[in-house]
Amino acid sequence: MPEFNLNKSACSSCGTCVSTCTPGHLKMNTNPEVVADTMCIECGHCEAVCPEGAINISGPELEAPMVDISSKISPEDMGNYMRNRRSIRNYKKRPVPRETIEEIMDVVRFAPSGGNQQLVEWIIIEDPQKTRELAGLVIKWMEKLAEENSPFAQVLPVESLISVWKSGLDPILRGAPNLFIATAKSNEGSTPMDGTIALSYLDLLLPSFGLGSCWAGFLQMAADFEPIREFLGLKDSEVFLGALMAGYPECKFFRVPKRKKLSVRYI
Ligand SMILES: Cc1cc2nc3c(=O)[nH]c(=O)nc-3n(C[C@H](O)[C@H](O)[C@H](O)COP(=O)(O)O)c2cc1C
Repeated sequence: MPEFNLNKSACSSCGTCVSTCTPGHLKMNTNPEVVADTMCIECGHCEAVCPEGAINISGPELEAPMVDISSKISPEDMGNYMRNRRSIRNYKKRPVPRETIEEIMDVVRFAPSGGNQQLVEWIIIEDPQKTRELAGLVIKWMEKLAEENSPFAQVLPVESLISVWKSGLDPILRGAPNLFIATAKSNEGSTPMDGTIALSYLDLLLPSFGLGSCWAGFLQMAADFEPIREFLGLKDSEVFLGALMAGYPECKFFRVPKRKKLSVRYI
């Protein structure tokens, strides 16, 4: 557990840290006090929320100073940004430079996670040839399904996907130069959901870098196929949480595609 250090002379006893904290960790006396260390999820909110900067949590230094732009992004701009995000299915050949990937992933690490566990890890493919090889393994998995007459092969259009692949196109990873794969050391608690959330952060962030992405659903379905696990170097207990193809979009959208009306019940 990190140490909770309070500068009592700076503390104004406003209690904001206690009300922001997970229940049972801090309580307010004259000043905030730790009740039960076991309840701390190391979210760092107490240190980040204190108006006086009176709290210091042991461990790594605070992140770079906060730049609050929430009042500068209008709901309209944000709404348009989100409505305009599209699944990209054709990419320029050039891969995303490593520095850009690092910049992106330094934001993605702020995705929320259950209990602040931060258990999502990443495998990032930077070599378009490797992305193609991996797509080929998904096709191998599909060929196996077809051979075995698996019920999966009745649902998935495996025959047409295989024939598109044989024609030289890539219907699996769409010729994307890069692939971002979320993994975890083991499947526990909220890790599958954490993986999806982290990937959604990535998906939504990429257009701001002039990049596009698409969820790699076929790869996800084939992820337990041993040659794929081997290709990715996944250890026995490691789990594949999901993946996004990514790269510079080859085409531009001019309209927002139609979507169903929202179904919502207010109670
Ligand atoms: C879980 C998931 C898996 C997907 N898998 C694929 C895929 O394997 N190939 C593909 O071209 N698109 C895939 N998509 C993209 C969807 O087809 C796409 O999100 C949908 O058509 C809506 O388009 P939009 O994302 O541009 O709004 C996937 C999307 C999700 C959420």
